[in-house]
Amino acid sequence: MNQPVVNPLIDQIRDLGPWHHNIRLTEAIEIMDAYDEQERQRVNNNNISLINSQSAFENKTKCIYPNGLQGKRFLDCACNGGGYCFWAAEMGADAVFGFDVRDHWIRQAEFVKSHRTVAPVDNIQFETCDLMTLPERQLEPADFTLFKGIFYHLADPIRGLKIAADLTREVLWLNTARCFTDNTESLYCTFEKPENLMSGVHALSWTPSGPSVVGKMLYWLGFRDIRHVFSKQYEDRPRFGRMEVIAAREPGMLDRLAEVENAEKVDVAAFKNSKQATDEMKSLF
Ligand SMILES: C[S@@+](CC[C@H](N)C(=O)[O-])C[C@H]1O[C@@H](n2cnc3c(N)ncnc32)[C@H](O)[C@@H]1O
Repeated sequence: MNQPVVNPLIDQIRDLGPWHHNIRLTEAIEIMDAYDEQERQRVNNNNISLINSQSAFENKTKCIYPNGLQGKRFLDCACNGGGYCFWAAEMGADAVFGFDVRDHWIRQAEFVKSHRTVAPVDNIQFETCDLMTLPERQLEPADFTLFKGIFYHLADPIRGLKIAADLTREVLWLNTARCFTDNTESLYCTFEKPENLMSGVHALSWTPSGPSVVGKMLYWLGFRDIRHVFSKQYEDRPRFGRMEVIAAREPGMLDRLAEVENAEKVDVAAFKNSKQATDEMKSLF
């Protein structure tokens, strides 16, 4: 059995919980050290799992930006405890901005920022903010935007995605819940509870039925290379699952990612000019 870690930060970490992102603070301590095995799973952690995503994030990011993130601005929409912001800064990003609608998560991100000694943190900024009000801040656009776990928590996801896309110069990385329906391209509508720390705050939510749904939105928003990185279906709830779609404004930037991750093109341009698209439109008149 693992010995409990004795460190003065442990109590502070526990006070700020529950946590979703496991982040290393110092050579000696990372967030998960404050929790036992059961707590790291959803049990006793307010039904929120503690995830380790640094290496997956770094591996995919290196496929897109092989020389690291030097010279790039990184934007994380719904940054939660800030994990991806810290890892982007560690990969050399010039400027990092993460925001989340909940103070709970931004308090965690600020705590990590003030104790993290294993990588630079000075160029990272966090704010509590609702995505829908982000345009009011008149931010400088980012090169690389993460839109993970947020699409399906919005009452108006197309406007939300547009807000992020309009602030993105090069690449937008979208990861979302998806549903599996009978071959139709749709958004599944449901309600969610704002009191859940991981949910949206507007109580209405829309889940896309597959990569071509968000692919068409991203094409409409000006992205010309759109890749379906993965989809998975939950065994215990087969109507639902997860998918990842990464989009670049210019073709070429995602070639390596496509090769390494076997990420198929979401070929919206071909569809847009097809007879099927024309016929579908006519039948709506
Ligand atoms: C499923 S979690 C995903 C967190 C993180 N992006 C990740 O992938 O690990 C959803 C996050 O979205 C935040 N959120 C929900 N609605 C939001 C909104 N309108 N604006 C900003 N953040 C929001 C929640 O507070 C929560 O941290």
